[in-house]
Amino acid sequence: MGGRQSGERQAGCPAPSDFPLPGNALDFFHQDHLRKREVCARISRLSELEAPDADEICDIMSFLTHELPPHLADEEQDLFPLLARRCRPEDEIEPVIARLAADHRRIRDRIPGILAVLKAADPGGKAFSDEHRARLHRFSTDLLQHLILEYAIVLPFARLRLNRRDMGLLQKGMLRRRGLDRLLEACDAG
Ligand SMILES: [Fe+2]
Ligand SMILES: [Fe+2]
Repeated sequence: MGGRQSGERQAGCPAPSDFPLPGNALDFFHQDHLRKREVCARISRLSELEAPDADEICDIMSFLTHELPPHLADEEQDLFPLLARRCRPEDEIEPVIARLAADHRRIRDRIPGILAVLKAADPGGKAFSDEHRARLHRFSTDLLQHLILEYAIVLPFARLRLNRRDMGLLQKGMLRRRGLDRLLEACDAG
């Protein structure tokens, strides 16, 4: 799957979000969601192509394997529990978190199947079958709906209710999941 140089990206497509060092963790979530919304659109576009593009398939497989899982973990292990702890009863955040957690389980369950569809593609050759096209489209649509709900409810409440210490915990978890905490310690020690 050659073609595009490593690090070079399609025009108009955001690169994987830069990591928050040492900025606000919620700003990183916001950037990360923008990036994921763009990838959703790319999955839908890819599904419609007469000759699926090899580089695009490779990028999307990398996103599903390396970027999406830690993002789901950031939310499940840190953001959602912090919100549940800090939000007030009148915020009615519990049912929202339950819905989002159920979305995560469904998204995670479907990733291997979507990867298999992409792996079985014929880059530059045949279009996806109707069934595979429908699966790709449904996955991107469901992920987009999930992101819209988080954008509309979760991030505004997080900005309102989380305190500075919570932000620090969020950021630490995010760094740890990506193996960047040791890097930071090394920089501090140096
Ligand atoms: Fe999520
Ligand atoms: Fe999210």
